[in-house]
Amino acid sequence: MAQPINCKAAVCWEAGADLVIEDIAVGPPKAGEVRVKVLATGVCHTDEYTRSGMDSEGTFPCILGHEGGCVVESVGEGVTTVAVGDHVIPLYIPECRECKFCKSGKTNLCSIIRVTQGKGVMPDGTSRFTCKGQTVYHFMGTSTFSEYTVVAEISIAKVAKEAPLEKVCLLGCGITTGYGAVMNTMKCEAGCNAAVFGLGAVGLASIMGLSKAGAKRIIAVDINPKKFELAKQFGATECVNPKDHDKPIQEVLIEMTFEDGAGGLDYTFECIGRPETMRAALECCHKGWGKSCIMGVAGAGVEVSTRPFQLVTGRTWTGSAFGGTRGRTQLPQMVDEYLQGQFKVDEFVTGEFPLEKINDAFHSMHDGAIRPVVIM
Ligand code: APR
Ligand code: ZN
Repeated sequence: MAQPINCKAAVCWEAGADLVIEDIAVGPPKAGEVRVKVLATGVCHTDEYTRSGMDSEGTFPCILGHEGGCVVESVGEGVTTVAVGDHVIPLYIPECRECKFCKSGKTNLCSIIRVTQGKGVMPDGTSRFTCKGQTVYHFMGTSTFSEYTVVAEISIAKVAKEAPLEKVCLLGCGITTGYGAVMNTMKCEAGCNAAVFGLGAVGLASIMGLSKAGAKRIIAVDINPKKFELAKQFGATECVNPKDHDKPIQEVLIEMTFEDGAGGLDYTFECIGRPETMRAALECCHKGWGKSCIMGVAGAGVEVSTRPFQLVTGRTWTGSAFGGTRGRTQLPQMVDEYLQGQFKVDEFVTGEFPLEKINDAFHSMHDGAIRPVVIM
């Protein structure tokens, strides 16, 4: 029978507070659960969003983190799909293969543990973390800012052991979100024209997907021109800074793509999370067929708007979470493709930090880093 493990974790005691490295106890995995040793974890804007208190759903104290590279330490009763020693990536969107959503074949939004995950507890309604006699809550069903964490078996993708976990951990969120939106959600075809708004990890990964899909023009949009060089390395054919223009960016993009009497993009991707850029991304879509995909997460309570005429005239507004990716089925394939050199992962890492310096990793994101990785 597995025992609790005492280890270090970065605990967020309350909204707005810096993380504190604490000694915690991680309970053994119950039925259908897996305890993993976290070797590396990316730091994402969603972690910062919850830490800052902007996310009204955050449960404190908690252990944040959702881009983990891990090794299975022990498994609970009934677990059959992973074993001790397997290399795994935790999934904040599980794949149970049994709920209405999974069975539909139309979406990756498995909802079987949505309610408990949102409350910061395991599917049985309890937490596996304690610190100083107090319950500490989970986050996104993953909590990777800890040397050990417990996740549901359905929230685990088993990946090739050859892959460096301090790199492929980034497939747990940002890279997969941007790349998957192009491949799974929008299914962009060769020869298309596309624009990507926001050149963080999500936007760069969208550019990488478009490049692989054979897009003819990939227009990268950002207000920070320091991002343009990297965007070109990932496959952007042109870069535009809205600040260089005195008219709305949607008009600029329509003019740039004017051909045979009309302008506009076949596909646009919003990778920022602001209602103005979501609107611009829709309105620069080509009349009759252009499609816009929202990936950016907006602040609580934010609403989007446009004139209905934009939709009446054939533009489509949609969105994508985790790039429409079914984690257990598709992440292993993505890791294999990475190992074959078919797409970039290492290039997204903009710095490595030890766990004790995790707050510095957060600060580096404010300075425009793509992805800091914490090495445990
Ligand atoms: N117009 C154009 N670009 C902008 C604007 C704007 N008005 N505002 C910000 N940007 C750019 C920033 O300069 C930055 O390069 O958008 C980029 C956003 O990148 P990151 O902050 O690194 O975000 P990323 O990790 O890629 O995530 C993008 O998706 O998952 C969500 O919560 C995440 O909302 C976030 C989004
Ligand atoms: Zn994320």
